[in-house]
Amino acid sequence: METVVSGIRSTGNLHLGNYYGALQNFIKMQHEYKCFFFIADLHSLTTHPTPADLHGNVRQVLVEYLAAGIDPEKATIYVQSDVPEVTELYLYLNMNAYMGELERSTSFKDKVRAQPDNVNAGLLTYPVLMAADILIHRATKVPVGKDQEQHLEMSRNFGNRFNRLYNHDYFPEPYAFNFSENLVKIPGLDGKGKMGKSEGEGNAIFLSDTPEAIRKKVMRAVTDSGPTVQNQSKPSEIQNLFDLMKVVSPADTLAHFNNLYNTCSIRYGDLKKQLAEDMIIATAPIRDRINEITNDADYLRKVAAMGADKARESASKTIKEVREIIGFRNF
Ligand code: TRP
Repeated sequence: METVVSGIRSTGNLHLGNYYGALQNFIKMQHEYKCFFFIADLHSLTTHPTPADLHGNVRQVLVEYLAAGIDPEKATIYVQSDVPEVTELYLYLNMNAYMGELERSTSFKDKVRAQPDNVNAGLLTYPVLMAADILIHRATKVPVGKDQEQHLEMSRNFGNRFNRLYNHDYFPEPYAFNFSENLVKIPGLDGKGKMGKSEGEGNAIFLSDTPEAIRKKVMRAVTDSGPTVQNQSKPSEIQNLFDLMKVVSPADTLAHFNNLYNTCSIRYGDLKKQLAEDMIIATAPIRDRINEITNDADYLRKVAAMGADKARESASKTIKEVREIIGFRNF
């Protein structure tokens, strides 16, 4: 059975983009592959979370992974920092990752622009840590979005380089994987690009948002002054609302509003009200489950411990073999 690895950084609550873009893939994959889904808390250190925030953020992602439907009996769910073998592999891989290629990575350049006062070496070697996350389980399939394509290419390079250096066909090549050919892109509410937590307050609908919060955010979504010509094409901020509706609403609701748009009789207030209600319905089971398990400390502890055990079993096997290949020997 092929091995799957994916992780989400614990830098805030999960939103609809995470759910429809990533989690739904995870949930499907857990039935067909050997899956490892982890909470990337080591990666979150590149932005220096405070000790007071760190655990709560990890906990929130764990709760939301479970609430969304990842089954800890089927997939291995673990916290990255519970598996120190990952950081050991990261060190080995760092020895054959080159400054030039790391500096050229788009995500590094973006980060340098975003946080010019904190260009730490962890940012530079982020792709090496990501490669270690994947190679530690010798995974071949990685459910991630388009924006991670370059990181995956680097993971393949680091693995292949290790194999060549030690003349061992050890690490397989990991590739991005998605069930649907066209990845569902979930736009944000600000009329611009995709839904994200760094795009500003109100742009993202979180899985843990209350119905009231969802209504408020959707009603504030950016719109234009309305169509003036029949069947005219939609500007991006309006298309975004229709794209969201396509994901959360029944097909006839979407068709109804499309028709109103095309005949220039649409009222955006009605569209938004409907969209908000359908979002509330679509996320209700997850929200209920979040509320159910968020205070169940015993359950969360059990899941995290079980995941850490299973992940370490797989990781320590790799590390043992890697040490052997590199040439470390016991006296
Ligand atoms: N870099 C990924 C992101 O920003 C998160 C991540 C870290 C990851 N390690 C990974 C994803 C390993 C897949 C596999 O979304």
